[in-house]
Amino acid sequence: MSQKFTLNVNGADHAVEADPDTPLLYVLRDDLGYNNPHFGCGLGQCGACTVHIDGKPVRSCVRPVSDVGNQKVVTLAGLGTPAKPHPLQTAYVQEQVPQCAYCINGWIMTAAAFLRDNKKPNDEQIRDALANVKCRCGTHMAILRAVKRAATMMG
Ligand code: FES
Ligand code: FES
Repeated sequence: MSQKFTLNVNGADHAVEADPDTPLLYVLRDDLGYNNPHFGCGLGQCGACTVHIDGKPVRSCVRPVSDVGNQKVVTLAGLGTPAKPHPLQTAYVQEQVPQCAYCINGWIMTAAAFLRDNKKPNDEQIRDALANVKCRCGTHMAILRAVKRAATMMG
C-alpha cells in the first residue's frame, strides 16, 4: 500500500507517494525526474544507480524509499553545476573519459565520496575504492587518470 514520504534531494524537499519497498532509484527517476542515477543491474552490483545519502555512496536500486527518512540525498546533478563543477566533473571532461557514458554516474559518485575522505590517494587506494563499479566500455585507465587529476585539484 502506498505511503507518503518527504525526500530531501539536492537540497529540496519533495513529497512523494510510493509503496515503502519501492527502490529509491525508481522514485528519483520516475517520480522526481532526477535521471543521473541509472538503472544498470538492479541488483546492487554495478554502481550505475549510486547516490549519496548523508554523504555516503549508496546503490539506490536496492535501497527502499522508506529507509531514507530525513537523510539528505544528493545526486550527480547536486554534486556540481555547469558554472561550478565538482573537480571530478572537470577532470572527466579534461581526460575525455566517457564512451557511452552510462556508467559515469556510479564512478563519479563513488569517487567523490572517496576523495572527500582521502586527500592524497595512491593508485592502489583508488583502484580499491572503485573496484566494485562497472564500465562495459573499458574506460578504466581514463577513469584512474581523472580521479588522480581531481585529487590533485582538491588537494
Ligand atoms: S543498478 Fe544499482 S548497482 Fe547496478
Ligand atoms: S563508458 Fe560505457 S559503460 Fe562506461
